[in-house]
Amino acid sequence: MVGARTQTPRQRRRHVRRSFEGRVEAEWGRYAGNAQRVLRRTLRERFLTRHLGRSRDIVLELGPGPGRFTSVIRRSTRTRVAAVDLSLASLRSARRRTGRQPARAPIDWIQGAGELLPFRNRTVDAAVVLGNIVNFAAADGPALLQELGRVVKRQGLFVADFASPAGATHEFFHVAAQRRLLRRILRRPDWYFVDQVLRTGYQPYAPTRLARWEFRFYTVGEVEEELARAGFRAFDAMSIAPVAAFEDRVAAIARREPRTWENLLRTEEKVGRRVGALETGHGFMVAAVRR
Ligand SMILES: C[S@@+](CC[C@H](N)C(=O)[O-])C[C@H]1O[C@@H](n2cnc3c(N)ncnc32)[C@H](O)[C@@H]1O
Repeated sequence: MVGARTQTPRQRRRHVRRSFEGRVEAEWGRYAGNAQRVLRRTLRERFLTRHLGRSRDIVLELGPGPGRFTSVIRRSTRTRVAAVDLSLASLRSARRRTGRQPARAPIDWIQGAGELLPFRNRTVDAAVVLGNIVNFAAADGPALLQELGRVVKRQGLFVADFASPAGATHEFFHVAAQRRLLRRILRRPDWYFVDQVLRTGYQPYAPTRLARWEFRFYTVGEVEEELARAGFRAFDAMSIAPVAAFEDRVAAIARREPRTWENLLRTEEKVGRRVGALETGHGFMVAAVRR
């Protein structure tokens, strides 16, 4: 059944690792190539920078993938970054991309799982978890958050992004329309959902790209609840680009001039924090503090 647990945690992690091993370059491309992608990336970076500040001692980046946000994290770190990923190919790619910068904090590249972190209790000043990693943990998401709660120091920071059900539905239809599949899906939704999704047992993450893994979508309220159980208090949440995430022309027009681009970013940041907009963008970001 779709969404039900079909694998043990270990099998699921192996599956996620193998899937990402095969798409390291595609992962890098996810935030480049057109204005919308750059917008989604820039909003994540600004949220991260705003909350990390400039002087964290030890920062854990869980799932750096090809290292899209690793340099941003390193700029905020004084002592050491620990980059933990299931995938060795991702770590190698991140290391190559991040480069050697002797003046900056060193990075430990660690192959491992977020659910079994190789750190002692309360030793990390901030944990950054970007790329829907808690969603990928499916039924083990709460256990992953508990493990992060174990290693983050009191008053330490947690920043993550999550895929929401409403945002994912919006993305699904947006991609279907771009791929000229939407009419077919809406005419006969059972063809797609019954024949394709239920037959394969995969998640309908995007048309033509049924996700080959279990994946749990979260609302902001659900994230806050799970974080509270793991010992965190959420204090900021922001939808990613509720205005332009799925409107190709808006970001493209804004990108033509630095001033219009900055104004779009600020608009997104304001609208993205309105309660009604929280789950309408390209997922949402959450910042929380360890109690
Ligand atoms: C979608 S990519 C995200 C990359 C980057 N953080 C970003 O946002 O662009 C997810 C990465 O997290 C890793 N990953 C997923 N689940 C993980 C887990 N439970 N523990 C450690 N790494 C994990 C994958 O191997 C992959 O490299």
